Amino acid sequence: MKTIGVLTSGGDAPGMNAAVRAVVRTAISLGMTVKGIRRGYAGLIEDDIIDMDARSVCDVINRGGTLLYTARCPKFRTEEGVLEAVENCKKHGIEGLVVIGGDGSFRGALELSRHGIPCIGVPGTIDNDISATDHTIGYDTALNTIMDCVDKIRDTANSHNRIFFVEVMGRDAGFLAQNAAIATGAEAAIIPEEKSDVDQLATFIGRGVRKSKNSSIVLVSESKKDGTGGAQYYADRLVQEYPEYEARVTILGHLQRGGIPTAQDRILASRMGVAAIEALKDGQRNVMIGVK
Ligand code: ADP
Ligand code: F6P
Repeated sequence: MKTIGVLTSGGDAPGMNAAVRAVVRTAISLGMTVKGIRRGYAGLIEDDIIDMDARSVCDVINRGGTLLYTARCPKFRTEEGVLEAVENCKKHGIEGLVVIGGDGSFRGALELSRHGIPCIGVPGTIDNDISATDHTIGYDTALNTIMDCVDKIRDTANSHNRIFFVEVMGRDAGFLAQNAAIATGAEAAIIPEEKSDVDQLATFIGRGVRKSKNSSIVLVSESKKDGTGGAQYYADRLVQEYPEYEARVTILGHLQRGGIPTAQDRILASRMGVAAIEALKDGQRNVMIGVK
């Protein structure tokens, strides 16, 4: 394999740059040529493809976001889009592709591989919602960001004797909410994997109030696509049924996706980037790199 491509796709995640860096430098050390595809599958369709050398990934290991940019590309879900992408791969001599992204990006990679472009997946998403790996790139940084924010919210919650509902990302997975709850000593976590009950929540909170706790924090996974759930929904329901409580809502939003990657994410991303190139070199096709 002489020429490989690398792209980042879907939601950006801190540590993606470290993964790109490891892919580029490992491939170059093995004598390969590396093409960087910008804006994920959108760039592959629109031929937004650049040559990368060892210097093009200088000073990026410590930066959040992705230097290759990313996109959600509806056109790639069509046969026409995939065929255009395949044409561009052929035009640039790309014989193998490293796709850094989440489960949607891997579905796209599967389509490419069905059309003759071998792909290796590297799991990059703050959601940690990819099976067959314990962790995904970006999850640890996002979790630490949430922890810092909740620690700050605890200060004001304590001062006013209020219940705070803090909404975090995760798409359909509750890893961020659940583990942030453990790390911050929250009263409860409301996650999509478990049915939630407002009375049970009130019991937890009531228990804390009786013990003279000054504040309560509840971590809530973001609302579903149909708009149900989310922090505001549970705060409203609690106050409706228990008007004696004063509740506030904080939605952390996209700040969870930014920031300097933690050491753990940088190391994970570096290991995975190296492993992706070694897998291509060893003739592996259409697999994902994971850590167990
Ligand atoms: P993530 O990779 O973080 O899960 P998305 O679900 O948005 O993010 O997927 C990223 C991109 O992968 C999509 O915008 C689309 O271009 C491509 N993709 C997702 N699902 C498919 C699919 N079933 N077939 C082809 N491409 C897909
Ligand atoms: O997959 C990462 C993620 O941040 C999810 O947690 C969230 O549901 C989604 O992306 C938000 O997507 P966007 O940035 O397109 O609004």
